[in-house]
This record gives sequence, C-alpha cells and structure tokens, in this order.
Amino acid sequence: MKGKKFFAAGAGAAMAFTLAACSGGGAGSDPDPTGPDEQGAVTEDMSVGVAMPTQTSERWIADGEAVESGLTELGYEVDLQFANDDIPTQSQQIDQMITNGVDALIIAAIDGTALNSQLEAAAAANIPVVSYDRLILDSENVDFYVTFDNYNVGVQQATSLLVGLGLLNQDGSEGDAEGPFNVELFAGSPDDNNATFFWNGAMDTLQPYMDEGTLTVPSGQTDFEQAAILRWQQETAQRRMEDVLTSTYVGTDLEIDGVLSPYDGLSRGIITALESNGYDGTVEEGFPVVTGQDAEIASVKLIADGVQYSTIFKDTRKLAAQAVTATEAFLAGEEPEANDTETYDNGVKVVPSYLLESDIVYQDNIQELLVDSGYWTAEEVESGTAE
Ligand code: BGC
Repeated sequence: MKGKKFFAAGAGAAMAFTLAACSGGGAGSDPDPTGPDEQGAVTEDMSVGVAMPTQTSERWIADGEAVESGLTELGYEVDLQFANDDIPTQSQQIDQMITNGVDALIIAAIDGTALNSQLEAAAAANIPVVSYDRLILDSENVDFYVTFDNYNVGVQQATSLLVGLGLLNQDGSEGDAEGPFNVELFAGSPDDNNATFFWNGAMDTLQPYMDEGTLTVPSGQTDFEQAAILRWQQETAQRRMEDVLTSTYVGTDLEIDGVLSPYDGLSRGIITALESNGYDGTVEEGFPVVTGQDAEIASVKLIADGVQYSTIFKDTRKLAAQAVTATEAFLAGEEPEANDTETYDNGVKVVPSYLLESDIVYQDNIQELLVDSGYWTAEEVESGTAE
C-alpha cells in the first residue's frame, strides 16, 4: 500500500502535524503552527477524500464542488466521488480513498448506518472523518459533524405550510384563516438521520393544530414509517401521493389543502401527482400548499410561478466552508470549533457539531435570499435550470 505522501516527504513540521492529528489533537497537542510557506508545503502533500451521495439532486453537486474548491484553494489534493445513491458504491469509494492514503475524509452518507467497517479502517489509519450534513451512525470513529439545525429545518417546513394555509403570517403572528384544512404528510429517507429531525421539528409544530382539529390528515397516515420515502426518490413520492389521493380523496367531496414535503424533489413528485388528479393553477388560485427543502432551481421556479409554495434554503456554500475549516483544523493537529456538543448522538457517542441556520423561501423573498446572495441568477430562476 502506498505510504502517506507527507511521510514520504519526511518534513519535520508535517510529521508533527500528523502525529498531533493522530492523537486526536486536543489542548496541548497543537504543534505551534509554522509560517505560511511551511504550512503551504504541508498541505500540498496532503489529500482529502470527499464522498457525496448522488448527483441526481443538484444540492450534492454544489456541495461537492464547493468542498473541492475550498480544499484545492488551501493546497490539498481532492478525491471527490459521487455514489449514485448506491450503498455498495459509496462503501467501495471510501475503501479506495483509504487505500490511496488520503489524510482526511469528508462523507455525506447514503445510509448513515452502513459505513462502519470503512470508519474502522479510517481510524486504524489515523484518518479523521468529518460527517457532512448527514450524521454517520453507530460508529465511534466520527470525529466531527457539520450540518444545519435539522430540527429547525422541520419547524420551518411546517411553519411555511401553516403560513400557506393562512393559519400563520410570515412574521409568526396568527393568520386570518380558521380551517379546518386537509393535509397530507411526507417524510424523508428512513436511513438518513436528518429525516427524523425534519419530521420531529415539523410534527411538534403541526401537532397542536392537529389536536384542536384545525388540521386533519384524512388518509390517517401520520406515522413517520407511513410517510417516509426511501432514498428521497421523487417517483416514490409521486406514487405515494397518487395512492393517497386514490384511496382517500378521489370520488369523495374531500379536497386536499396542503402537503408537508421535506425535500424539493419529493415536492415536485407530489405536485405532478396532484396535477394529474385534477388540481391545477397556482396556490393563490387554490392549488394545495406544498413545502420543500434545498431551493433546487426547478422548485425555485415553481415557487416564482406560484405553484410550489415554499422551500428551505440551506446555503451549501457555508456548509462546505465549515467542512473545509474542520478538516483543516484536524490536519493541523487541532480540534475544530463546535457550536453544539449535545444534539447529535450517533448511538455510540455525541458527535461535536457545527450547525448552520436555514431560511424559509417564499415567492416574495426569492430575490433577497437566492438571487442577491448569488446562489441563483435571475435568469436561472426564470428558466428553472442551473447554468
Ligand atoms: C439533506 C437535505 C436533502 C436530503 C435529500 C438530507 O440529508 O439534509 O438537504 O434534501 O438529504 O437529498
């Protein structure tokens, strides 16, 4: 097996950094960082493996590219891989990265519980592992976690549903509508730890309205297991929405007023199912309120057009920057700075985390949140495709 490049280089400073990283860093183990020249020399010889789940959702492409360019700018070599949402593919990619002697790993897992043996191998080779956006579960060997406040993402999704129905105003005050409203609920992939956080945040927000009868779920499908969509697949969501419409609404007087959807891909499947079952027009004209997540360009256009009601903007540029900062800290023999050391228990330990904030996107703040910040151009929003 190829030795690590920085050992081959034999630079004293590199060795000191490496040893500190191996020992897990921590107070007192920081080898007084050297000047920029030597630091540059160290990073040039180091490589980072970046494992992303899929290219079918543009957020992961953006995440991958942003992490890659952040690391490249710092002088690291980068091995960026996408795994087509296939668990064995991702496991092999990570095995290969370890065999190739990467110095750190940044991983957005497909299945949070499926990477145990890879993480054991990484630990044995003293490779720090940063869990990216999705927490890797059941392993001691996850060193850090960068993500968004996932519970709050769920709160925001449910809040936007309530705003769309008129039960709340955007400023959080009570809206004019009284209901009762018929809603249906969707959750994310059961093997993604985030899906439960989104669901819990959303359900804690909706439950009081369900308890008082302002919201009802005519299908009766209110359990996470019933609402979950494996691998976040758009077609699966479309099919489930069609099934729910057929079993509960078609041929009755019932109309659906809103759908809690935790991801834009699912939202578009749900919208397609609604449209092929007689719902049309815009939300203003009575189309059901459908929420989302990720500010995918196809959904941002639907929001601009008044068809999808909302999404949640998670600025992947900021998340990528955090992942790069954490990795850099590990490779310098330091501990990354966490802002949450309580929330993310992976079943074996609480993983120190850095959580970012997200925003609700409505039709009237697309410009401010997404265009002015340079996330999408006005032309992209207009066309619904990324350039
Ligand atoms: C991410 C979401 C994304 C979903 C589907 C989750 O782990 O946090 O942003 O919508 O995966 O890709």
